Amino acid sequence: MAYAPTLAAQPVPDTYPAKQTLRLTAKRTAAEGIVAFEFSSLDGAPLPPFGAGDHIMVDLGPQMSRAYSLCNDPAETHRYVIAVLKEPDGKGGSVAMHALDEGAEVAVSLPRNNFALVSGAKRHILLAGGIGITPLLSMAHALSRHRADFVLHYGVRDLSRMALRDLIQASPFADQCMLHVDGHADYPAYDIPQILAEPNPDTHVYVCGPTPFIDHVATVAKANGWNPDQIHWEYFVAPESDDPAENVSFEIELVPGGEIVTVGPEESVVEALEREGIFVLTSCAEGVCGTCLLELVVGEPDHRDHYLSDADKARGDCFMGCVSRAAGGRLRIKL
Ligand code: FES
Repeated sequence: MAYAPTLAAQPVPDTYPAKQTLRLTAKRTAAEGIVAFEFSSLDGAPLPPFGAGDHIMVDLGPQMSRAYSLCNDPAETHRYVIAVLKEPDGKGGSVAMHALDEGAEVAVSLPRNNFALVSGAKRHILLAGGIGITPLLSMAHALSRHRADFVLHYGVRDLSRMALRDLIQASPFADQCMLHVDGHADYPAYDIPQILAEPNPDTHVYVCGPTPFIDHVATVAKANGWNPDQIHWEYFVAPESDDPAENVSFEIELVPGGEIVTVGPEESVVEALEREGIFVLTSCAEGVCGTCLLELVVGEPDHRDHYLSDADKARGDCFMGCVSRAAGGRLRIKL
């Protein structure tokens, strides 16, 4: 029976283990440099449900776990589908993914969500750039099932790099998709100012893609008078800071043991802990995926991530150990 998810993100029931071993049941080229991977359970049992915009963490080696957005229909419970762009100059995750063979068994986390649809919105505008199509595809599936009012714009520089075009054009929401290819006569230009020309309080906009693309959308939305609460995005890599703060050394105190670890100016909290033999799982190491979340007991962090919301930061009970530092004084963290 098909699982019928709601539009809004829902936590996965806690009857499932945090991690499970899945089999890579299919692997196919989705575009130039992009491979789609399909994972299923070892025994054919239904997978833990997921929602639109969810991602999974895939373990690819010791201390190497990578976050990938699910791009299939959240109503499916027999498979998780992701698409991965190979980045030979990246940190190794995409290369390790592309090296997996069909039949491989891989540890995969429960689905998580940092990028959810707003269930009360009357209209949704999905804006994808490049491989940023993946979370927006699961959103399009969910919106289509709920007969919601939405449009998906998907732009690439080169047609050969347009991932999953065959599936999109054969999907039930093909008529709600606008494909854009730079300088291609058969595809209209990706005109963000025109798409966001008229702010509407009942419309929410979801953006995923390369950092310059997200920044461009954010700039246009602001200039056109959109309320920032109506613009939602998911970064794959951290945006560069115009004015990076100078790093100074600080201390962290571990609770309950009381050990003190000094974090040098050239290292992160995660790296300082690792030097002391304490390993914190990381993925992006850029403050965008949420993997290295640390529980803060006392102290004032200098938040440098793009994962925590303003409300999370205001609560003052966590920070991202791969990028954030102390704003002054010692950070006491629970490990
Ligand atoms: S490892 Fe991704 S936020 Fe720290």
